[in-house]
Amino acid sequence: MTKPIPVIIDCDPGQDDAIMLFLALNAPELDIRGIVAVGGNVPLARTRLNLAMLVETTRRTDVKLYSGAIRPMVRDLVTAEEVHGITGINGFEFFEPEMKMQDIHGVDFIVENLRGARDNEITIIATGPLTNIAMALVKAPDIADKIKQIVIMGGASFEAGNVTPSAEFNIYVDPHACDVVLKCQRPIIMFGLDVTHKVMTNPARVAAIRALGNPVSEAAADMLDYFGKHDSKKYSSGGAPLHDPCTVAWLLKPELFELKPCHVAVETGSELTMGHTAVDFWQVTDNTANVQWAYDVNADRFFDLLTERLEQYQ
Ligand code: BDR
Ligand code: CA
Repeated sequence: MTKPIPVIIDCDPGQDDAIMLFLALNAPELDIRGIVAVGGNVPLARTRLNLAMLVETTRRTDVKLYSGAIRPMVRDLVTAEEVHGITGINGFEFFEPEMKMQDIHGVDFIVENLRGARDNEITIIATGPLTNIAMALVKAPDIADKIKQIVIMGGASFEAGNVTPSAEFNIYVDPHACDVVLKCQRPIIMFGLDVTHKVMTNPARVAAIRALGNPVSEAAADMLDYFGKHDSKKYSSGGAPLHDPCTVAWLLKPELFELKPCHVAVETGSELTMGHTAVDFWQVTDNTANVQWAYDVNADRFFDLLTERLEQYQ
């Protein structure tokens, strides 16, 4: 097998972040250098607690966890309890985790880890607001060269916004951070609502996960049951979109997705369209593409992959 890909994961768990973590934490293809929590779906105090419980559930207690930014760079934090429940991972059975956050701040961990890396070495997976990544790039611009690629869940183009008519949640929460990241001149792969809304859970898919019968698959099914209830009403569907796991699924099996190089810019001025991602899908400007924009996915194969990987847990 080829060498595992060195990754830093930045997230705001969230049920779909949780499934992303479950997919990443037993993937032999990934070498996880650290996982950072950011305030997003719920406040930081909860996202970092959720992170510790979720990682401990997978028994990957060797992975180092960090607490990152408590609020966005410029704006006030907006959270999404109406989607994820008051805990952020409603459906999950809480316990007191033994895993603790490392003493160093998440942004400083990102800076130090990248400074110690080779050029073009580290892949960043970001499934929450981009605050930590942007803060690290602002604090230490020299780290940009160490980044191989940034794989982001965020944005929307053909699909309408899910938090305002114009914007997807992660980008809406910290549009200024998104602006810094989009301008960092490193390869960026973006999984926005155009593609994540094609990866819908349904009762049969969740039942297949529950039937695996291990503690991780059962925790996943419990969370997806809760997540599905809210989103099936919102989207008039049988379940919920698995946004965040698209990032890791692409790293494991890129052939499941269709991507197109596009220029992407983010709105940071207008209150009406704040956080809107302007994706030049049809190349109507002369702007050079700064993003590989995901627009299609084989959802059946995605769920096959997820189910196979969850089955590996004991
Ligand atoms: C994104 O926002 C959050 O609610 C989810 O965890 C996902 O990262 C979807 O818009
Ligand atoms: Ca998320």
